Amino acid sequence: MNKKSSDGMSRRDFAKATAAAAGFAILAAKSGIAQDTADTLKIGLIGCGGRGGGAVINCLTGNDNVKFVAMADVFEDRMVARRNDLRNNTHPKVQPKIDIQDDLCFTGLDAYKQLLATDVDIVLHATPPYARPMHFEAIVEAGKHAFIEKPLAVDPVGIRRCMAAAKVAEEKKLVIVTGPQRRYQTSYMETVKQLQDGAVGEILTARAYWNGSLPFCNEREPQHSDLEYRFRNWYNYIWTCGDNIVEQHVHNIDVINWVLGAHPVKVVASGGRAWKPVEEKYGDIWDNFTCDFEYANGLHLLSMSRHWNNSHNAVFEEVTGTQGKSNCHDKGRDTSDPYVNEHIALLQSIRGEREYINQGVQTAESTLTAIMGRMAAYTGKELTWDEALNSDLSLVPAVLDFEQAYPVGPIPVPGA
Ligand SMILES: NC(=O)c1ccc[n+]([C@@H]2O[C@H](COP(=O)([O-])OP(=O)(O)OC[C@H]3O[C@@H](n4cnc5c(N)ncnc54)[C@H](O)[C@@H]3O)[C@@H](O)[C@H]2O)c1
Repeated sequence: MNKKSSDGMSRRDFAKATAAAAGFAILAAKSGIAQDTADTLKIGLIGCGGRGGGAVINCLTGNDNVKFVAMADVFEDRMVARRNDLRNNTHPKVQPKIDIQDDLCFTGLDAYKQLLATDVDIVLHATPPYARPMHFEAIVEAGKHAFIEKPLAVDPVGIRRCMAAAKVAEEKKLVIVTGPQRRYQTSYMETVKQLQDGAVGEILTARAYWNGSLPFCNEREPQHSDLEYRFRNWYNYIWTCGDNIVEQHVHNIDVINWVLGAHPVKVVASGGRAWKPVEEKYGDIWDNFTCDFEYANGLHLLSMSRHWNNSHNAVFEEVTGTQGKSNCHDKGRDTSDPYVNEHIALLQSIRGEREYINQGVQTAESTLTAIMGRMAAYTGKELTWDEALNSDLSLVPAVLDFEQAYPVGPIPVPGA
């Protein structure tokens, strides 16, 4: 006989219900549904643009037992647009982990501080680079693990702040994964290891190029203040983006530094503005750089970066040794998405499933390599690593205020 319990449920019903619940849990685990357990890690995003949204999706795709709860952006329209995109994401690995709380969505110049005051465990940071040193320090101060996009800064003062923040992160055992995704691309990982083991013999020379077209140039709207326009058109101003050698070419420079296990000791460089009209929307950045970096062992890296339309575009790295040459990814295979791999590494490191990761200094050094090339080109002078590292050059205004004027320029002229 089916005996009823006091709440009206038979033992068989109870067994069925428990089995169903257990089945759901298994199903949930398989489909990656984030169930709140003591181990569920909460994620927040600072900088809700294209890359920020991509990083959230990459992180949720690669990891279970995580949920995305908080967002911060200087502009409300950017935050709301990204929030809508993420809430409407239907991917089975992503959608169940989106749990954005409206009261954890912040806007304005202090939005990052408000997000850092919440109980998120991990911050994904994808603002333009001008804000990185200030925010990196605050992330570490708040005791959060982080994925931090490249480049880490736009000037040597910012680089030193990031290096110091990375050190404090290490003392606090906060995991810091950074955005140069080739470091998590299997073809590069396998090839770099083989190159370091002598696959092309002794490496004698290197090349790295990011010759591309203009990424974006947004028009100024009548309601934009100077600062709002600088932010909305950030890729065209030296203090917001660091110029194209820093903003994009850092990827290729980072690969060469990785292969060689070193940064250059000096640089001489040229460049200028070949085609850009002197207009506010084209800002004060140059459109071409060519640098000759020298490493301590005498090896030279030829680096080129351009924003030229209708020209020969080439984005690559190459090393030539006594026994051949390599494009730094030809000795391995791509087996997975590097943009997802970096977030798997982040979570595995936080959870103690692999070694402690802190790429703060490594990416600061690659960013400084690019900054040093830019400084040599702008001035026309040879520059050493130590001069760049110790330089007092600080480009980001001390006060950011939507009421203040932020004039563009001057456009750098070597020798002037
Ligand atoms: N690793 C890669 O392959 C890769 C690819 C694209 C972009 N990125 C990097 O990601 C960063 C962002 O690029 P994007 O293309 O997403 O730009 P974006 O303009 O689409 O997004 C940047 C966002 O940051 C916000 N923002 C600006 N200042 C802020 C502040 N002080 N506080 C909070 N939010 C602020 C902006 O309003 C905007 O929504 C850049 O540093 C870029 O180099 C890396």
